[in-house]
Amino acid sequence: MNNILDLSGRVALVTGAGQGVGRQIALHFAQQNARAVIVNDYNGKRAQETASIINDLGTDTKALAVETDVTNWRAVNDMVHQAINQFGSIDILVNNAGNAGASTPEAMAKQKNFIDTEPEEWEQWIAVNYYGPMYTCRAVVPNMISKKYGKIVNVISDAGRVGEPRLVVYSGAKAGAAGFTRGLAKEISRYNITANCVALSTMNTPAVSSMTENEEILKKILTKYPIKRIGEPEDAANAVLFLSSDASSWITGQTYPVNGGYSLNQ
Ligand SMILES: NC(=O)c1ccc[n+]([C@@H]2O[C@H](COP(=O)([O-])OP(=O)(O)OC[C@H]3O[C@@H](n4cnc5c(N)ncnc54)[C@H](O)[C@@H]3O)[C@@H](O)[C@H]2O)c1
Repeated sequence: MNNILDLSGRVALVTGAGQGVGRQIALHFAQQNARAVIVNDYNGKRAQETASIINDLGTDTKALAVETDVTNWRAVNDMVHQAINQFGSIDILVNNAGNAGASTPEAMAKQKNFIDTEPEEWEQWIAVNYYGPMYTCRAVVPNMISKKYGKIVNVISDAGRVGEPRLVVYSGAKAGAAGFTRGLAKEISRYNITANCVALSTMNTPAVSSMTENEEILKKILTKYPIKRIGEPEDAANAVLFLSSDASSWITGQTYPVNGGYSLNQ
């Protein structure tokens, strides 16, 4: 059987690919022969590190680091148009950049109930988790339509499926991204473009390492997981790769949980 995950000839844009899940997605794409991977992050140093790791793999994939904040529409539009000018298309778009806010046990302990937050505080969750995917899709999809090909994968959180207390606005923003993906999928699937989500639970990434590296906290987290470990970036990247490849050509508008059984689908 041929390699059903092969991405030969494809150009991918991965947002927030400077570390964690996004970095591993970019590496998976290079290992599956993508023609180019645009490694986006608003931290340029991290993006450059990922691009260097890809270049060191010695594959034919061209890695291009681009420092852009996905919450800035004009900057996103410029990034996308420059990439299309350079490579001719963006065939795969992965919206991975995201932020749950607190990332240390101390900060988690200070997280507020929704009714204790002020509207001015909500923007930090809504901008990156909801507007970010919309900005990149708005910029990329016209090119995908003109090429009659595209794969879009939006990385959400199980918080967006089942809701999390004290992460209420984040839960809403991630659920919004999933709803947006479903609507968009119905509009654009006729152009041979699929759009899906992957919903993650606790991952072994820098975002939450100060909690997952604390034995006591980890033990408490794992009580909620049928599979008794947290997720590795590879677990997420495997699912994203599948949904970015032609192996998933009859799947659109769906959300795939990658979560160790944290929340169970019916
Ligand atoms: N880590 C978890 O436990 C967990 C759980 C559920 C969902 N998720 C989701 O998975 C995705 C990846 O998470 P991670 O754990 O790898 O995160 P991470 O914080 O380790 O890495 C995210 C990367 O995105 C970049 N980034 C953040 N905001 C950006 C912006 N506005 N523009 C461009 N780049 C930006 C950061 O600089 C960072 O390099 C996120 O969408 C996150 O919400 C993570």
